[in-house]
Amino acid sequence: MRSTLAHHDKRLNTSGRGGSRSVEGVELTAAVPARPDGVNWEIRSYARRGTRLNARQQESWDRHATRWVVAPETQTAPGFRLPDVFERPGPLIIEIGLGVGEALVSLATSRPEANVLGFEVWAPGVAQCLNGLSRTDARNVRLSTLDAAWCLDNLLEPASITELWTFFPDPWPKARHHKRRLVNRRFAALAASRLVPGGSWRLATDWPDYADQMREVLDSEPLLRGGVTERFADRPLTRFERRGLAAGRSIVDLTYTRPAEAASPESQALSAQAYSDRNCSMATRLPPCSLADSSKHSAS
Ligand SMILES: C[S@@+](CC[C@H](N)C(=O)[O-])C[C@H]1O[C@@H](n2cnc3c(N)ncnc32)[C@H](O)[C@@H]1O
Repeated sequence: MRSTLAHHDKRLNTSGRGGSRSVEGVELTAAVPARPDGVNWEIRSYARRGTRLNARQQESWDRHATRWVVAPETQTAPGFRLPDVFERPGPLIIEIGLGVGEALVSLATSRPEANVLGFEVWAPGVAQCLNGLSRTDARNVRLSTLDAAWCLDNLLEPASITELWTFFPDPWPKARHHKRRLVNRRFAALAASRLVPGGSWRLATDWPDYADQMREVLDSEPLLRGGVTERFADRPLTRFERRGLAAGRSIVDLTYTRPAEAASPESQALSAQAYSDRNCSMATRLPPCSLADSSKHSAS
């Protein structure tokens, strides 16, 4: 049976303009209200890349997906919460954009006490990650193939993430694409609100102007404190990092923490305001982005 993500995504109808939406023929209209202003678009931080799996990836997907991948239709069901997918409660570590899972697989084995949730919309990468996971027998890992921003907004409570990882997010180097960069003010406010007090957001990039944008955005986020740090010791060298180094770019690591002492009510309100002020707020429980975006991948 072919059970690729492409197959999953064909069943995720997210193209309606405030009208009916369905997953596997199940109408979600009641649970997924249209935006009050009728706008139904999102700026996505990822682009469509090939969804076709090669024979090895397909085999890996068929053998292991049911164990580690949370089915999209499960996640879009009313009332679903991501922490419920784990076998037992524990500190939640999230990686956004796991690629082929190099960092996630090594993290999962080194932090058995934590629940590790990896997001990746690129099917072949998820299949490769499954292959890596199958060699570890990790019970504390789950993977989601939906848009991480939508999931953080809709499926996670505030103050629920202990550690957030964003390593080598798509750089969107062309100026006209900068608006697609994941680390922007709106997403920073959302991510900060989802960190537990004392929780950290670790980032790395090989694009100097994206590093500057990250600092600018995160320095101005009222719930976060931090800046450029030493290379995170647990971070393995990934394909994207190697590619950046080979191109002569230097790597910048950043760590921002939500201070353990409660933020002032004013700064919390400011942060919440910054988040809800962004046009196209996801708080209306829009359906998640699927791989339906046909724009070209302009990332490194
Ligand atoms: C440049 S790659 C880096 C992969 C990996 N972190 C590494 O260092 O090798 C960025 C990945 O993030 C994924 N991605 C971007 N935005 C995403 C989102 N909102 N939700 C899930 N995955 C996303 C892309 O599909 C892409 O595979």
